[in-house]
Amino acid sequence: MSRTHCGDRVDTSDEPLVENHWHEYWDRLEEHVFFRVEAEDYVARLAATLGPDLGARVLDFGCGFGFVAELLARKVPALFVFDTSDHMRRQAQLRLAGYANVRILLPPAVASWPEELRLDLVLVNSVVQYMMRDEFHGWLGRWQAMLAPGGRLALLIGTSQRDQAHQICSDLAWSAPLPIPLSTSRILLLGTNLSCSKSVTSGQNNAYH
Ligand SMILES: C[S@@+](CC[C@H](N)C(=O)[O-])C[C@H]1O[C@@H](n2cnc3c(N)ncnc32)[C@H](O)[C@@H]1O
Repeated sequence: MSRTHCGDRVDTSDEPLVENHWHEYWDRLEEHVFFRVEAEDYVARLAATLGPDLGARVLDFGCGFGFVAELLARKVPALFVFDTSDHMRRQAQLRLAGYANVRILLPPAVASWPEELRLDLVLVNSVVQYMMRDEFHGWLGRWQAMLAPGGRLALLIGTSQRDQAHQICSDLAWSAPLPIPLSTSRILLLGTNLSCSKSVTSGQNNAYH
């Protein structure tokens, strides 16, 4: 999704935000053809960075209109998508309606997520900068807890958020920050769960279809 059309915001400050007005923005944003182009570019870069096998269970967190998810749905056995905006979730649901391997997750306050869900990859692409700091920190803990052994967390975030990710998800093995073309303020950060404790769902690849 276009950082220009979606109102790019990179948190370079260490001060907490006081109020989050972005929800109203996402709830009325209209689709633009450029979002698809950006999604293709992002997914191509992901494949180049992570390799062709993204894993059996992938979560696209903050999925927006679902352009990235639509590309991923053709590649992964089970894809979970979530967006905090009702409008965005509805748009993503329409786009992904033909894919039986996709499940739309509702906000945890509305419907709790499967407790036993363990993911091979959690993608958070250009979402964190729209969160309040506490919310970001809370999600970091949840993303880490949802990773299967060997699972990866791919954060496209502002450079200033790297230390927070390292600190809160200190159990993950973090890659060096990968640069994003034409951006000096954003990086792609990969955290891998090196724990070898057995996933509750291992061997049940299609449990959530
Ligand atoms: C710039 S768009 C990115 C969409 C998608 N990840 C992509 O790469 O095309 C940001 C999305 O993050 C969602 N978002 C913002 N805050 C969120 C939050 N706290 N939890 C989940 N999604 C959120 C917005 O509703 C919006 O759809």
